[in-house]
Amino acid sequence: MHSKGRRQKAPNLTKLLDNKPVIIVSNRGPAEFRRNEAGNITSKRGGGGLVTAMTAVSEATHATWISAAMTDVERSMAKKDNLIGFPENNPLYNVRLVDIPKDIYNRYYNTISNPLLWFIHHYIWDLCNTPSFTEETHKAWGEGYVAANKLFAEAAARESLKLKNPIIMLQDYHLFLAARYIRELTSEPFLFHFTHIPWPEPDYMSILPFKVRHQILKGMLANDIVGFQSRHYAGNFLLCCESLLGAQINWRKRSVMWQEREVFVRTYPISIDYGNLHKISESDEVLKYETKLLKENADMSLIIRTDRSDPSKNIIRGFMAYDVLLSRHPNFKGKVKFLALLYPTREGIMEYKKYRREIEATVKDINERHGAENWQPIYLRMKDDYLESIAALKHYDVLLVNPIFDGMNLVAKEGPAVNKNDGILILSENAGALSELGNSGIIVNPFDIEETAAAMYRALTMPMYERKARAANLRETVEQNNSLKWIHYQLKDIVGLEKKRMLEGV
Ligand code: G6P
Repeated sequence: MHSKGRRQKAPNLTKLLDNKPVIIVSNRGPAEFRRNEAGNITSKRGGGGLVTAMTAVSEATHATWISAAMTDVERSMAKKDNLIGFPENNPLYNVRLVDIPKDIYNRYYNTISNPLLWFIHHYIWDLCNTPSFTEETHKAWGEGYVAANKLFAEAAARESLKLKNPIIMLQDYHLFLAARYIRELTSEPFLFHFTHIPWPEPDYMSILPFKVRHQILKGMLANDIVGFQSRHYAGNFLLCCESLLGAQINWRKRSVMWQEREVFVRTYPISIDYGNLHKISESDEVLKYETKLLKENADMSLIIRTDRSDPSKNIIRGFMAYDVLLSRHPNFKGKVKFLALLYPTREGIMEYKKYRREIEATVKDINERHGAENWQPIYLRMKDDYLESIAALKHYDVLLVNPIFDGMNLVAKEGPAVNKNDGILILSENAGALSELGNSGIIVNPFDIEETAAAMYRALTMPMYERKARAANLRETVEQNNSLKWIHYQLKDIVGLEKKRMLEGV
């Protein structure tokens, strides 16, 4: 399907780093450790785009990866305070787990990181009703988010002091404050933060309590470089620093002067581990799923989406658009099927539970109204099954990626990378992937159900030559980038800035 010769060579990170050690810090680590019935510790790959990308990076840089202990087994492993070689059968990097007491963790993750910060960064509050900041929110900020960031910072500083001039790479919205606390403990490491999700405009950011938004911006400005998925999100960050913090911005250099330090604001669009994804897509397990899928959906055009069941993914408006398509073009009935392969996520949070119930109710309603004895319009799967999702991505005619806002959206890249059907990508104009894939997908306003339904119709009736041309362009674009190149550009900027500072004696 894709000739190996065209794939990009992996950049040589070891040479670039010249023995400089890398420490990665993220909330979720590369694997989930549990104890099986025989009492042995087993591990399962962690989910989400961040884990996928950082796994490739850790392997290539032989990093130390610091993450939170989440299960009881992990907490007891964290208490032993040692490094765990990973993957177990062929250790390429080290994992250190941080034991964050359960009450702190709960406030940090379930009150602040996900319901509050995630919602702000994806613009998904229903502002007439939510949010309302109460004593509980302020307590969760101080005793949860701030406290957890301090614990991550202490662990990172401790690892850092064992190494010579390390680079600390902080990941995402869970760790907006960590750089500031690391700097209080050690001045040696180079501090870099990457935000995997969107960065909102100042007006939306100012929904956050004054103290919270100030601490976030000051925390971010304790880094040497901060990275974002797109130039637009980097621009929003600069605007926030200017208007919410009163910091001085150099728009030409895209840097912020803060407390006599210059902080650089850069863009690094994340990508997938192309080679590894291909290996997985050709594995026996995926082939088994594929055979089943093709048998069950013979002669059917397939609209596919695969996402975490997250409100930011805009799953319900996607079904509403499909509903319009079937009502307006009943000739599609019995000839098209919508496979929604969703993963339950963050079920401890009320908004997520409610959203899941709404998804299930919408699917039931559409299936009842349009379905027939031998045809069900929507197949909904609510289970974390990555391999089944990959098998389905190989066969979509239409891939629906319509998030409200999204940092990048890796499904928009994984799909075209493995699809064998010259399928068409319908892409939200608010996904970070737009700048790379916008020319070849069909772009929609994610709130416009009419437009999304029309995009589905256009994709399903598109002449084959146009499908082929669009799919080839998408594939080529995705092949050009990969997660190692993503990290390569970051490390190049880090090493370059360090050299420049050394020469200038800063
Ligand atoms: C997705 C997002 C990441 C985020 C992660 C957290 O992968 O793209 O930006 O860090 O979710 O998910 P979790 O399951 O750990 O809450």
